[in-house]
Amino acid sequence: MFKEKFSEMMEGYTFDDVLLIPGRSSVEPRFAVVDTKFTRNISLKIPIVSSPMDTVSEDQMAIAMARYGGIGVIHRNISTNLQLQMVSKVKREESLRIRNVHTVEPDTSIEEVINIMRSKNIAGLPVISNDKLVGIVTKRDLDFVEDDKRKVSDIMTKDVVYAPEDVEIDEARRILYKNRIEKLPLVDKNGRVVGLITAKDITTRQKYPDATRDSEGQLLVAAAVGPFDIERAVNLEKAGADAIVVDTAHAHNTNVLDSIKKLRKAVGIDLIAGNIATREAAEDLISLEVDALRVGIGPGSICTTRIIAGIGFPQLTAISEVADVAKEHKVPVIADGGIRYSGDIVKALAAGANSIMLGSLLAGTEESPGVEMIINGRKYKAYRGMGSIGAIRGGVSDRYGKLSGNKFVAEGVEGAVPYRGRVEDVLFQLIGGVKSGMGYVGANNLEELQSKGRFVKITASGLKESHPHDIKIISEPPNYQLYQV
Ligand code: XMP
Repeated sequence: MFKEKFSEMMEGYTFDDVLLIPGRSSVEPRFAVVDTKFTRNISLKIPIVSSPMDTVSEDQMAIAMARYGGIGVIHRNISTNLQLQMVSKVKREESLRIRNVHTVEPDTSIEEVINIMRSKNIAGLPVISNDKLVGIVTKRDLDFVEDDKRKVSDIMTKDVVYAPEDVEIDEARRILYKNRIEKLPLVDKNGRVVGLITAKDITTRQKYPDATRDSEGQLLVAAAVGPFDIERAVNLEKAGADAIVVDTAHAHNTNVLDSIKKLRKAVGIDLIAGNIATREAAEDLISLEVDALRVGIGPGSICTTRIIAGIGFPQLTAISEVADVAKEHKVPVIADGGIRYSGDIVKALAAGANSIMLGSLLAGTEESPGVEMIINGRKYKAYRGMGSIGAIRGGVSDRYGKLSGNKFVAEGVEGAVPYRGRVEDVLFQLIGGVKSGMGYVGANNLEELQSKGRFVKITASGLKESHPHDIKIISEPPNYQLYQV
């Protein structure tokens, strides 16, 4: 019995154990398409997701990730209220049709209009009388007003250009441009103002053509909850979150499975469950109708689970094991942890992942919440595991720490990663690397990368040969940073 434990042992591979074999190709990397699915119902233009960690994903990260075609998962190591505020912030950041339009009446004082504009941070207000649109007052109308005791009706534009509530966005853009105006009120059949389209929102939409948006033009955002925190999940859905990540270090736990069953009933938005690393876990979670699986037990740069608990699964094999089951049920797979270079992303996608979750590579960006520091003259940002002592003490999360009184067993470390500039630039380099890999394999899209990508196992000398060698690097490219803390 004990001997068989070793004779029947499977071999597991991770990123440094293999390379993808180049194949006959007519694919120009820049034309390779990296569209993918994050969950059953959410599509992405790039296969990158930011991890729900308190030094990685808050509102600023989620906004940036969605703008460039990925998605952010807001972490849960904060109060529910704060997390809800962050979700709302992302949802309010962009919108094509503003639905809750602030309005004023003709005899509202200019003083009050100024107050409303300042406090709500808006630049134009439709003027309503007896439920009908009678004018519009904008910042421009206020610029030269000297007597702010006058009324709105004295300065408003009376000939308001408006459009029906279901106007197409292209038509709205044409009307705004033709009339050289900034705001277009939308009215229903009875002449009531039911929405507003602004030139600024249309320009923003053009600026981020790949953004992950809903039908209202709002950015998509996911949020993490603890496996037993159903109330938080319900509130997050109410606040506008588009998906819930059930965030646990071991989702293949019967209490967690029971709770996911309840969560499935409690929320209507997509549910992502993890982390897992085996076929059996994938089968159990899929039977609970989850909408995506998050794979990775211990590969993360800050993880000590494998060392502390002796548990884990080399990440590439884990991805392939889960993907084999998930593909049959059309459930997307998120490969979470261990990515250091764009080449690792190509390998994870070829091994069966639909998207890749990043912690370390995004923790060093401008948009992450981690604090900046200078070490040996070089800029770094703080990055810590959610099972590190700092994260457990400093927050409300219980992902890893086994609490007993004030004592716990940490499963992560705290540290710093090199500052990497803006998310946009990091994603550009990562996606450039992915497309390059697809060109070598001959894959036009990610399905072809999975069907055509073949791995070769390499040795320690193969790995040594793969990295730059026999040279003192004096200039570091943005996609190949060495850790020199
Ligand atoms: P990377 O390699 O991108 O990994 O930095 C991020 C992922 O690591 C996981 N994570 C942890 N794993 N102890 C662990 O064993 C921890 O303290 C910890 N914190 C985060 C998580 O899956 C994350 O997305």
